[in-house]
Formats: sequence, structure tokens, C-alpha cells
Amino acid sequence: MVIVANRLPVHCADPGSGPVRWHPSPGGLASALRSVVQDPRMVWVGWTGRAGPVRSPLPVDGVTLAAVPLDSVDVQDYYNGFSNGTLWPLYHDIAARPDYDDRWWSRYAAVNERFASATSECAAPHATVWIHDYHLQLVPALLRARRPDLTIGFFSHIPFPPRDLFAQLPWREEILQGILGADLVGFQRHCDVEKFIRSCWDFSCRTISVLPTVSGQTRTLRFIDADAGSGESVSTEVRVGAFPISIDFALFGRRSQQRETRTRAQRTRDLLGSPTTVLLGVDRLDYTKGILHRLKAFEELLACGDLDPDRTVLVQVAVPSRDRIPDYRTHAEQVAAMVGRINGTHATAGHPVVHYTQRQHSPAELTALYLAADVLLVTSLRDGMNLVAKEYVASRHDEQGALVLSEFAGAADELTAAYLVNPHDLQDLRRTIHQAATSSVAERRRRMRILRQQVRSHTAHDWATEFLDTLRSVRGSTCSSSGR
Ligand code: F6P
Repeated sequence: MVIVANRLPVHCADPGSGPVRWHPSPGGLASALRSVVQDPRMVWVGWTGRAGPVRSPLPVDGVTLAAVPLDSVDVQDYYNGFSNGTLWPLYHDIAARPDYDDRWWSRYAAVNERFASATSECAAPHATVWIHDYHLQLVPALLRARRPDLTIGFFSHIPFPPRDLFAQLPWREEILQGILGADLVGFQRHCDVEKFIRSCWDFSCRTISVLPTVSGQTRTLRFIDADAGSGESVSTEVRVGAFPISIDFALFGRRSQQRETRTRAQRTRDLLGSPTTVLLGVDRLDYTKGILHRLKAFEELLACGDLDPDRTVLVQVAVPSRDRIPDYRTHAEQVAAMVGRINGTHATAGHPVVHYTQRQHSPAELTALYLAADVLLVTSLRDGMNLVAKEYVASRHDEQGALVLSEFAGAADELTAAYLVNPHDLQDLRRTIHQAATSSVAERRRRMRILRQQVRSHTAHDWATEFLDTLRSVRGSTCSSSGR
């Protein structure tokens, strides 16, 4: 099997020209796959995180890593430009304004070609290839054209936009054609599946029918195309379904029960000044995460006296991300300014009310923070899944802690026992944070039990197994009914 993703599971820490040092890659994709992909026959195709030629890193957990080189123009136009300056904001409900730039698009197409040919070279005959994320939406069709023998799955880790937003994209037809080269297309949520199908209807410029659902999990799209050679019509089928990603529940459980972690959690609370309530946010420093909305709500709760600045602290971990992109820089400045303002108004010497850190925390440090926090705040304006919410739940073996969770995060479909909130509604956000922070031990336990049962029963391993089992069964059926 071959995994194809923009990033390898490890990346070069220093994007400049210093010595090559490898670190685990940020974000949900790498951490979810790391826990399930540990087969020495596997190959992972991806970028090292550094511009210019870099040798492939050594295997990780036995998996061979194949580096696709990106030069500095690729990084600018394919990664910062089309992937994160066009697609990312467009697919996240225009939380920032997407830019439509022909040069970015050409580079995106060229880099997708490079990924397709690197994959084609390392895939064994009849291998299964699993392509991930919005950076590589053209790869399924490009790979199909090179290697019709392969079974191809594509999984989108981020939301799919509503039809009327997707309509803005000047290259909408090409993107759909690219994705539809896969045998199976997976999304995080059922609503993404519906949005994708709607855009296929309107923009794929092919004759399409949606077949009645046979199994509950996937929908089947049938396309009728004219064969370029014979002129006869050929039908192809693509399955589309929701496969919500998850985490390694047992791993977080084990880690959080270690004596060292519990001691570290207690020490953290002591260092914070033994407050009555610790609120926590853990995010990439991204404008889609709703960090400013959360800070604003917190500030107002302090100002009106609903939260006491002498007894409450907010710990905000915000790991810098995509910091060459102007919208990310502006957002980082706004967050820093707001933290300064809140502390300027409410902190006393030696006792900040917001503890703000941009340091990447180790898994052990993060787990201790989860255990130390009375309330985790996930206030994304739009989010594919949000695995931090699931990690928090998995870490709370003591059945304590309250989860405030945005309705706009994919996790809200499953974690319905959380304190669900609309982060765009400041009053709702204030009310919900207050309610979670002041809830009784019994109420927290009741909710956390349900949440833990949910995360325990659907792990990262289940996610990967369900996707790959469906992919293999789908390929079996489409081979017999289509021209592929
Ligand atoms: O959430 C989408 C995503 O692309 C993840 O798949 C990835 O792990 C994360 O963002 C990190 O983004 P980047 O690779 O840009 O640092």
C-alpha cells in the first residue's frame, strides 16, 4: 500500500539551510495515520517540509518514506499559494478571503503531476494507494491515467464547501475531475458528502446519476462518458462516503494514567497559582480555529464578573503555522495583542490570566495539560474534525473535565454530549463557557462518560480499517461494472 500526503510523517524542523533534523509533522493527518500505518511493506510519499533537494528520511515505524522535492517557488505557489491561500479559506467558509491566481494554479497542477509520477514509480502492480488532503486533489485522476491497475482512495481531511462557494473557484471542474479519478472518496462528515455530490451535479460537466444507496455508508455516483477511441459510452462508478477520523484512544488513556503525567498535571496547576478553574485551548495558530472569538468571550466574562480573574486562568497553546502567509501573520498579531490587552486589564504582578505559548508541546506535556484543564475550548469557525477534542476526552480517564465544542467542527457530529456552541454568537459562547466552567462534578461525569464511550468505540484504527475495507470492496465491484 502507498500513502500519499503533502507531508511525510516527519518534517525538517528548520525550513532554511541549517542541518537536517527530523520532527513529527504537525496536525491531525500525520498523528492519525502514524498510529495505524506501521507496515514494513508500506511506502509514504510526501514532502519533507523544506524547499530544495533533501534526501528521503529513514523509515519511520518500518514504513519507507519517499520524499517529493519542492523548490522555493513550489512552496510559495503550490503550498502557501493555491493550497493555503485559495483552497483553505474557500473550503473553510471564507474565514479569510481566497485569492484566485493563475500562477498558483499552474504550480498546483505541476506539483500534483510530480506526486502522481512519484507514486506511480513506487506502487507495486495492483497496489492500493490512499491519497490525502486538499493539496493533492488532482492526483487521483493523474495517477489513474498512468496506472489503471491501482486501487485508489482519496480522503479529504477538511470540509467541502457549499455549492455556492465552490462555484467561485475558477478551476472547479478540474478539481472535481481530479478527485473523481479515485474509486472511493471519503469525507469527515455526511454534510460534506452531500455538498460534494451537489457540486459534482452542477460542475463536473459529465452525465452523472446517483444510484440508490445499497449500504448505509457510501453513495454511488455513476458517470457516463464517451470513449475517446471508439466513441462508445463508458460508465464509471465512484463511491463517496463519510469516514470520521479519530485518535488512538488507548494510547492517550495509558499516557494520562502514568504517575509521571498525573504529577506533571498537578504541578502545572500549582505553577498556574492553584486557580479554581483552568480553561485550555490547543490549536495550530490558524484563523479558522476561532481563537480570537474565544478570547473575546473570555475577556467579556472577566469584565462582567461571571469569571473571577483571581481564580480563573486560560492557557492557550497556539502552534505557529503557515507563517509566510499574510492572513496568518495578521491573525497571529491580533491574538498576541488581545492576550496582551486581557492581561493588561486583569492580571496582577506574577499572575497572568491568559498564559499564552507558541511552543510545540510533546505528547506527554499535552496530556498533562489536558488532565490539568477543567474546560477545553474548541471554538473553530469551521473545522474538518478537530482531533484535540477527541484527545482531551481520551485523556480524561478520571471522567472529569468539560468540553466546549463548536458546532462547526466535524467532531460535533459524534461528540453530542459536549457543550456545543456557535462560536459566531458571542453571547452563546459566553454563556456556554460559563456553563461548562461552573457545571457540577456529577454533570461533568455524566457527559464525559458518554463522550469517552463514543471516542473509545471509534478509534483511528477503526477509521483506517473502515476506509480501506470499503475501498477494497468498492474496487472489486467497480472493476466488474466499469471500464477501469
Ligand atoms: O487539517 C488539515 C491539514 O492539512 C492536516 O491534514 C494537516 O495535518 C494540518 O492541516 C497541518 O497543516 P500544514 O501541513 O500546513 O502544517
